[in-house]
Formats: sequence, structure tokens, C-alpha cells
Amino acid sequence: MLNPLFSDNRLKLGVFGFNGQAPSNTLVEELYRPTWQGALAIAAQAEAAGFEVLVPYARWKHGKSRSRALAGSMDVFDPFVWAGGLAQSTTYPAIMATSHTSLMHPVVAAKQAATVDQISGGRFALNVVAGWNEPEFAMFGGVMKGHSDRYAQAGEWMEIVRRLWSEDDEFDYEGTYFTIRKGESFPKPLQKPMPPVMNAGGSDAGRDFAAKYADLCFTLIKSDEPEGAKSDADAYRDLARRDYGRNIQVWSVAYVVQRETQAEAEAYHRHILENADVGATDAMLAMLGQQSKMMSPEAFQAFRTRYIAGAGGFPLVGSADRIVDTITRLADAGIDGLLLCWVDYADGLARWNRDVAPRLEQAGLRRSGSGGRETAFASGCQSKGMT
Ligand SMILES: Cc1cc2nc3c(=O)[nH]c(=O)nc-3n(C[C@H](O)[C@H](O)[C@H](O)COP(=O)(O)O)c2cc1C
Repeated sequence: MLNPLFSDNRLKLGVFGFNGQAPSNTLVEELYRPTWQGALAIAAQAEAAGFEVLVPYARWKHGKSRSRALAGSMDVFDPFVWAGGLAQSTTYPAIMATSHTSLMHPVVAAKQAATVDQISGGRFALNVVAGWNEPEFAMFGGVMKGHSDRYAQAGEWMEIVRRLWSEDDEFDYEGTYFTIRKGESFPKPLQKPMPPVMNAGGSDAGRDFAAKYADLCFTLIKSDEPEGAKSDADAYRDLARRDYGRNIQVWSVAYVVQRETQAEAEAYHRHILENADVGATDAMLAMLGQQSKMMSPEAFQAFRTRYIAGAGGFPLVGSADRIVDTITRLADAGIDGLLLCWVDYADGLARWNRDVAPRLEQAGLRRSGSGGRETAFASGCQSKGMT
């Protein structure tokens, strides 16, 4: 069995962020509260619709107001342990874990990843992030490195993880950031040569890292129109092919506000925004503006509504027909996959499975039933362009 991330669906789908609720910075009553039972139910809904992947985020500390701790809204489950649990509870989707290259040692990450790959029967994938959230670095007793150092360290981290996954013999590694003496890791992942890697950095250094190491990269669609994704998507693919001779998939994040009519969806969207968690949004945008080079600080501020409603993602706000129309335009612009989030995942996925999923099939973007399960694995690792 090969990884569903290489399904032949023209537009692949994932659910993002339900190990916590960081995708949304709103205080609406029905906001998702992360629980293990909730995660199991959401994973089952996503699996029923043939989603290709479930993706957690890694957050050691966030800037939400302390009063919210009581409501469970500061809870973020550990991505690797969460991935192991969902690997056991599902049979189809790829299961990701997210790892900070500067906070988690590569020897630890390589073994945990291989373990989840075994639990899942070869459905694991690793989301590698260089980090941006300074307070979590302080919590580890360290100082967050400058942006280019963070990516240089991420490169060493990735080289070590790849060797631990693929080499049987012990090896030494002498880098600027890591030293490995007689390194080895067993068990190996089931996937050969190794599990897929995703990277979501948007800066020039992030793009280069993704082009060199990742099978899936991310672009935040900065324009209001889906067609605006095309230049970024092309740039990622061109860079990977030209500089590294590799093919990469280009994904993006989107948040979904779906109702029966366009007017109802827009009204509910306004409700989400009017109930913004202002303190949390301010803190997040300030830190991203300072530490991520994906956009200027001003551009992050301009994305405020997107960070209130869902992870800075592209808005899919409307009726099922409108949402399918927007997704079709995104696919036409060269987007291979979308990670989706909702303020209320269970309600959102139920609406999606009922009204959007069949329309995506009619539009030819996804195969019927389980979204291409039958042939999901045809191309697989061999064609994913890993060097
Ligand atoms: C879909 C997506 C998921 C991400 N997940 C995380 C995460 O779990 N933890 C984290 O610290 N950063 C996460 N990031 C942030 C980036 O991976 C990256 O570290 C940050 O944007 C800084 O790098 P840059 O300057 O290259 O953009 C995520 C970004 C996106 C778009």
C-alpha cells in the first residue's frame, strides 16, 4: 500500500489543525474544543469522504488569553502521539505529525515517525517546520535563532532524519547545529525510500527548503481571487524542477464557512469575525510579522480576518455550489491539494460530505466514493521525485 497523498484525485483534501483549535481565533459558542473523542469522530468523518490526509500542528505554547485555559481552548495535543492514535483508528488517510526542527532532536523525530509509519501500515507523512513562535523557544531554555540559521539547521535536521530512515549502518554526522556519533535508527519506516515530507515555510529560504526536501509544499494564497495562486504554485514547481530535479505538489490552506445560501454563509462569516479573540489574534499576527518572512508585517495584518476565521487560509465562504466553483478555480490555478479547517469541524464536515463532496465528484475534481482509494497508490513513492 502506498501513501494516499499520491492519490490520482486532481484535487486532494486534508483536515488541518484538529489536535487543537489554533486555526480559529474566534470565541463563538460552537467553537471546536479539542478532545480525543472529538478527534476520533472528525477523523472518521474525513475518512468517510475519502480525504487524503489528517494534519496536526505543533504548538508548545500560544498567546491565547489565560482565562481561556479553563475552557480547554489552550489544549494542543502532541502531534506524534495524536498521529499514532489516529493511525490506529483509521484505515485510509495519510496521517501527519508536525515537527519543529529546532525543538525536537532528529534522532527522536526519526524514530517516532518510523513508529507511526509502522502503526499506520505506511500512511505516515512528516510536516517539517522551522518555527516562528518565539515564546516556545524560550520555554526550551534556548534563544530562537535568526531566520536563515533556522533553515540551515532545518537542512541538517532533514539530512540526518533521511539517513536514519534509510541507512542500516551506523554513521557519524558533524554539522554546525547537530553532531551525531554512530547514529542509527530502527525500526525503519515501512514506506520506501521514506515517508513523504511536507514543508509550509513561505519565505525564500522556506521555498528553497521545500523544493529540496519536501514532496508537498504550501503556498498561502495572497490574492482574493483563486487565480492569484497560479504564479506562486508555478514558482514552487519550477524551483524544485530546475534546482533539484524534483516534482513537488503544491498545497494551500483554506477555511470553510458553508451554509445553504450565500447570504447565510456570509452572515455566519460575519458572526465569526465579530466574535474575534482580539488578544490572541493580535499576539499571533505580531509574532508572525516579526519572525516569519512569508510576508511583511503589514501583509500579515491585512490577513487578519483569515487568521481569525482559519489559519490564514483562503476563504471558502458560501453555498456548496459557490465553494465548488472556487475550488475548481484553485485547481485550475495549479493547486494540488487543500488543507481545510472549520470553526466547528463536526458540523462543517457533515455539511461538506453531504453537499460539497458529491459536487466535487460531478466537477471531475475527485473520484466517486472514497476519493480514488482504489488507485490511490498507483504512482506512489517512485514518482514523488525524492532524491
Ligand atoms: C499549513 C501550515 C501549517 C503550519 N504548521 C505549523 C506548526 O505546526 N507549527 C509551527 O510552528 N509553524 C507552523 N507553520 C508555520 C511555517 O511552517 C513556518 O515555520 C513559518 O511560516 C516561518 O517560516 P517562513 O518564514 O519560511 O514562512 C505552518 C504553516 C502552514 C501554512
